[in-house]
Amino acid sequence: MIHAIKMRCAHLKNPMGIDERNPLLSWNVKDAKKQTAYEIYTQCNHSPGWTSGIVYTSAMHCIYQGVAESRDIITWKARLYDENGIPGEWSQEESFEYGLLTADDWDAIWICGIGTDKEERLPADYYRKEFHIEKSVRKARLYATACGIYEAWMNGKRVEGYVLAPGCTQYDKRLYYQTYDVTHMLSSDNDIVFVVGDGWYKGKLGCDGEEYLFGKQTKLFAQLEITYEDGTLERIATNQTFRWSGDGPVRENDLKDGLYYDARKQLSFGAYAEETTYPVLPAASNAPAIREHERFRPSLYRSPGGAQILDFGQNLAGYVAFHVKGRQGQQIRITMGETLDNGEFTTENFTTLPERGKSINQMIEMVLSGQEDVLIPNFFYSGFRYALVEGIEQVKPEDFEAIAVYSDIKFTGNFFCSNEKINRFVNCTIWSEKSNFVDIPTDCPQREKGGWTGDAQVFVKTATYLADTAAFFRKWMKDVYDCQREDGRVDNVAPKVESVGTADAMNGSTGWADAAVIIPYTLWKMYGDSGFITDNYELMHRWKDYVINQAADKSMYQWSKEHPLYQFCEKEKLLPSPYNKYVVEAGLHWGEWAEPEGVVKGDSMMELLRPKPEENAAYMHYSMRLLEEMLYAVGKEEEAQTCSEYSEGAKKAYNLHFVKNGEIISERQAKLVRPIALGLLDQNTQKKVAKKLNDEVVKRDYKIGTGFLSTPFILPVLTENGYSDTAYRMLENTKEPGWLAMVEQGATTVWEHYNGYDENGHPLKSSYNHYSPGAVCSFLFSHTAGIQVMGENRFLIQPIPGGTLTYAKASWNSPYGYVDSSWKIEDRKGTLRFTIPGNCTANLVLPDGQEMEVGAGEHYCEWEEL
Ligand code: BGC
Repeated sequence: MIHAIKMRCAHLKNPMGIDERNPLLSWNVKDAKKQTAYEIYTQCNHSPGWTSGIVYTSAMHCIYQGVAESRDIITWKARLYDENGIPGEWSQEESFEYGLLTADDWDAIWICGIGTDKEERLPADYYRKEFHIEKSVRKARLYATACGIYEAWMNGKRVEGYVLAPGCTQYDKRLYYQTYDVTHMLSSDNDIVFVVGDGWYKGKLGCDGEEYLFGKQTKLFAQLEITYEDGTLERIATNQTFRWSGDGPVRENDLKDGLYYDARKQLSFGAYAEETTYPVLPAASNAPAIREHERFRPSLYRSPGGAQILDFGQNLAGYVAFHVKGRQGQQIRITMGETLDNGEFTTENFTTLPERGKSINQMIEMVLSGQEDVLIPNFFYSGFRYALVEGIEQVKPEDFEAIAVYSDIKFTGNFFCSNEKINRFVNCTIWSEKSNFVDIPTDCPQREKGGWTGDAQVFVKTATYLADTAAFFRKWMKDVYDCQREDGRVDNVAPKVESVGTADAMNGSTGWADAAVIIPYTLWKMYGDSGFITDNYELMHRWKDYVINQAADKSMYQWSKEHPLYQFCEKEKLLPSPYNKYVVEAGLHWGEWAEPEGVVKGDSMMELLRPKPEENAAYMHYSMRLLEEMLYAVGKEEEAQTCSEYSEGAKKAYNLHFVKNGEIISERQAKLVRPIALGLLDQNTQKKVAKKLNDEVVKRDYKIGTGFLSTPFILPVLTENGYSDTAYRMLENTKEPGWLAMVEQGATTVWEHYNGYDENGHPLKSSYNHYSPGAVCSFLFSHTAGIQVMGENRFLIQPIPGGTLTYAKASWNSPYGYVDSSWKIEDRKGTLRFTIPGNCTANLVLPDGQEMEVGAGEHYCEWEEL
């Protein structure tokens, strides 16, 4: 009988403390071919609920339209009607709860410590409030946030649900509070303690490790609300009656550098907190919480030089927790690193700008109390697989544990095939997604921890095959919006990091800033939720105006005449044409970025600073086309037409300036992939360029030559243009630069660069946990296993076997339900089994060209290999 499963509110499961008044309710269909209608029934704790009535549609979502007041708890259930119009049973009840929706709901006042308004690394602030209750409690909620990172303790127990709260945000624009159910933590005499550290607010951020970007004084804002059985409500809110102590064990903490912890310290709580202010009213967090996940026990390794190194077997983002008993005053040090240098521990690879003297220590320094000391060092997180332990004579590995920390997104995609190395690479990508989805999508968890837009843009599709990213990206797109400049320029990193001079000029970079359009578009297509368009409309609209203005600005980036690039840039100016107004020539742009060694001739720094009209024209065409489609979908026709003009104009400019006699004159794979992937060429030219691309890949011995932007495109482009053999050889190539070369060298996460070590085995100055090259994994789902979303409730199943693969299977708990596709080839006979979720249909295209339309359920078919 038909029923609803995977019920979500605002893409979250039973969220507590949201502030969206009309959230999206969504579900999947089980045990039916079709849903012909749905009915939603809701109940509110204090008033009659909203019901949708019977709505005749196959859409598996609706907008909640009931009451929405602070603290309301809404329970909801769904009843679906199948293909014969017969209703199923009501689903089980789900719920969502509102947080505090207005400023009047807060009694809390911002508080801070005494004398803590300093540009200095200070001890964590500890706040305490004791209180007594007499009546019996119906429910209790804690609403809390901080400028900094906070944790709450009630009666000696950690209040669970989040770590590194309140997460990473553009603090001067938006600050989230978390809601905790603490009903069962209360007793008659209570004591609530908050610890506040520096975090993203005050500590090091970005590539250059600037500090105090948002402020120098950490602060706390919290309110405990106890609803008694008799219906009365009591609030315990931060104010100057809270006690404060700056003499606790956390002496220093920084998100990148780590922790200095003195276990001998006893809290005195000898003073009262001071009241302060902060201009941003906290908003409810509608995002997945950052949580602790997998745990890894290490093995102990003695390096050739005698160092004691713990190997956790997996590169990850998180922290090392441990217990240790030593002498009082004994000092120990634990440093986290990603790789070894010829068997010795190193963190050298983190520092890209040694000349600027910026450290990233990833280190716990601890003074022992003499008792058994337990430390979960959760005021920072590191990117690591190894930990160097110093100050303990004989390290006992069983006393240590690595805890992976990342946003609580559900991992939904799996891929296996007969090439074990590909499977391992997929696993590397999953781990790089885990390590870099820590409230914002970061480039890497050690060096920068930055919300780089370009990285997120190239990875969003793969990310969404591998996990349910909807709520995560909804939150981060707000950060992108918050960082948008007055003139519509989209920053390269969101939340913002300090950038000056050339680094600032790079903001708004093509392919990076385009994330403002590409990410909402991709999510809209994959989730069918037009909220991705409407929520981000303002951001995209302003971005569009900015790019149009930039295209009109023909001043280029002004180098002085003495600059070696001056002549070069003058030469690269586009020749006059009626279409130049559709191409951005101004500004500095990353371009393809990070193409493997040997691809870019000459100095790669020069390449970086060179103008990028080719990339700019291509992305003008592409992003304007995506925006046009989104705008039509939400009824903004006039604006859509402007996008169409720019998209078409840029295409003409591209063909005029960069296609010569039906050819593209370049050996660089990116230059050949891009125009095909972004739809810039006519059929004949595309054929020629695809052939050239194929020839170039063969010439390079199937080694990757694309950088950041084109890596997700290269295999689909080759495959769709008749070169799937080349695509698979490239995928399966195990020589550097190649995806599987990382696996060959023992990678457990994806590397930033395809070559990780120099000829003497020394690690390069780069990250070993960068998901962007893992963007190739979407190919495994969309082409190898052949699962693509074609529209609401609709898939394309078109497996494309190739290479050495004799079988492949992808399974995906997709936005529309569970889908899988698994093929095998034996004695030239191919067999395919696949599952289409309830209420969905699929176009099936088999490798021999057979096509058919299929409905929900499990299917089996065969074909003869040619
Ligand atoms: C980051 C990248 C980022 C790039 C911009 C690097 O430092 O780690 O992932 O996209 O800068 O080119």
